[in-house]
Amino acid sequence: MYGKLRGKKALITGASKGIGRAIAEELSSYGVKVALLARSKDKLDEVVERITRSENEALALKSDLCDKASILSAIIEYKKQFGSLDFLINNAGFGVRRLWQDIPLDMELEMMAVNYLAPVILIRHFLPEMLHRDTGHIVNINSFAGIYSAPYQGAYAASKSALVSYATSLAYELEKTNVHISSVFLGPTDTEFIRSAHDEDWVDNHKKSKLNTTKNVAKVVISTLVNPKESVVVESPLILWAARLTNLNPRLARKLIEKKHAPPKNFLE
Ligand SMILES: NC(=O)c1ccc[n+]([C@@H]2O[C@H](COP(=O)([O-])OP(=O)(O)OC[C@H]3O[C@@H](n4cnc5c(N)ncnc54)[C@H](OP(=O)(O)O)[C@@H]3O)[C@@H](O)[C@H]2O)c1
Repeated sequence: MYGKLRGKKALITGASKGIGRAIAEELSSYGVKVALLARSKDKLDEVVERITRSENEALALKSDLCDKASILSAIIEYKKQFGSLDFLINNAGFGVRRLWQDIPLDMELEMMAVNYLAPVILIRHFLPEMLHRDTGHIVNINSFAGIYSAPYQGAYAASKSALVSYATSLAYELEKTNVHISSVFLGPTDTEFIRSAHDEDWVDNHKKSKLNTTKNVAKVVISTLVNPKESVVVESPLILWAARLTNLNPRLARKLIEKKHAPPKNFLE
């Protein structure tokens, strides 16, 4: 089954590090031509060099997903170099867990731009051509926060739930085609994200052994490309159902969560 990946072309956002980098490296090991998008050109070049050393094809696309013009020039560059696209992996994202008054408005707007609006712009540009060829797959890296609005991360949860709503609605329209859209749900994974998004207490509270590895997430993404599903969970599917159930009684859920995770420190104090 994995043999059918060879020769396909993928665009992975947020591929300079973390989960995106692992997806790019894993995909290229199956002979997929990969385009890696992020802001840090030096890091992208490093990954591209590693991949091309193993005689696979890779392309670095420097782009800021907060900026529509920058996304459009990355799309133009992609099309110039690779032409058509088989797999769009919307992975880039960031979040913070802080008291509401400690999250600046500009950060909330950026979160919406990177986590939700950029995937929409990319889908708008690549989906028509996928539909025309009647083949293609869009994978959105989501989070349990996209289902359950945990306290202290309203903007992050809103951006991820907007993305899951968009994908779930679009999946219905794609049902009669050979183009797929998947949402991959995951919890804490060992990347810089967990340290930039949370305070030290939260990170200490999550024992290393409980974190997903980027390699494991990448393997789940690739098996989704081989065997398309609308919703995919990196851990047990029960966690997704538990996240959905919290919406029946959010106040109780918040109380239970707060017993495990102390509120973030007040950064303004
Ligand atoms: N790690 C977790 O615990 C966890 C849990 C659930 C869901 N997720 C989701 O998994 C995805 C990947 O996260 P990660 O853990 O791999 O985080 P990470 O290690 O911090 O990597 C984030 C990636 O996104 C890119 N990025 C961020 N802002 C960007 C912008 N404005 N323009 C272009 N690229 C940008 C970064 O590249 P540059 O900085 O070079 O631009 C980097 O490549 C995210 O969507 C996140 O929400 C992560």
